[in-house]
Amino acid sequence: MRKKFVAGNWKMHGSFQQNTALLENLKAHVSDVACEVAVCVPYPYLAQAQSMVEGSVIGLGAQNLSEHVSGAFTGEVSASMLKEFGCRYVLVGHSERRAQYGESDAVVAAKFAAAQAVGIVPVLCVGESLAERQSGLTAQVVSRQLSAVLDLLGVAALESSVVAYEPVWAIGTGMTATPGQAQEVHFAIRSQVAVQNAVIAGGLRILYGGSVKPQNAKELFAQADIDGGLIGGAALVADDFLAICRAAA
Ligand code: 13P
Repeated sequence: MRKKFVAGNWKMHGSFQQNTALLENLKAHVSDVACEVAVCVPYPYLAQAQSMVEGSVIGLGAQNLSEHVSGAFTGEVSASMLKEFGCRYVLVGHSERRAQYGESDAVVAAKFAAAQAVGIVPVLCVGESLAERQSGLTAQVVSRQLSAVLDLLGVAALESSVVAYEPVWAIGTGMTATPGQAQEVHFAIRSQVAVQNAVIAGGLRILYGGSVKPQNAKELFAQADIDGGLIGGAALVADDFLAICRAAA
C-alpha cells in the first residue's frame, strides 16, 4: 500500500516572517494528518525551515539542484549542500525550469542521479504543454521525460524516488486536469515502469500537480494511481495546504 504524500512547492515566494507564520501554523495542525507531508522551500530559507520543521513530521525539500558534484559553477547548489541542510526531497525537472531555464531531459536525469547519489529523494516532474495536449502528444511527451531517467539509471532508480505529473496548462491557471484526465496519465506512467519492473511500479508514488485546491483534492486523490499532490499556490496558505493534506489521508 502506497502512503499518500502531499508536498508544497513554495516556488519563489516567502520571507522570514511569512515562512515563520506558515510553518508554525502547519506544525500546530499537521499531527492530525495521516499522509506524508513536505515543503520545498527556496534555497536561502533552507536553514530557517530546517530548524523549524525539526522534530515535526514535516519533511524538507528543495526545488532544484546542480547536476554537478562541486566545482566552478557560479550560482549553483549541489546535492551534498542540500543534504547538509536536512533535505529529504528535491524537485527535478519542474516545468518552470524546463521551459524558462532550458533544462533538457538529459540534464533533469543527471540532476535526478545527483540527488540519489547523496540519499535525497528526487521528485521527478513531468507533464505536457497545452499545445502538446491539443496535438495528442501527452502520452508521448510524458513517456519521453520518464524514459530519460529510466535509460540513464535503470528502473531500480525509481525505487527511491517520486514522480509528479504536472500538466503545464494546469499550473497556476485554475484549470485543473479532471480526475479522469490525470488518472489516465498516472496509469500510463505506472504502466511504463511496470513493463520493466512490476514491483517497483506498484510501490512508486505518483503525485498530481496543477491547481490542486481543497475543493478538488479529494476527488483527484481518490483515483487509483494518484498518490497525493504537488501543491503550488495553495501551499502558501496554511489552511488550504492542511485541507489538501487531510483530503489525501
Ligand atoms: P499550482 O498549484 O499553483 O498550480 O502549482 C503547481 C505546481 O507547479 C507545483 O509544483
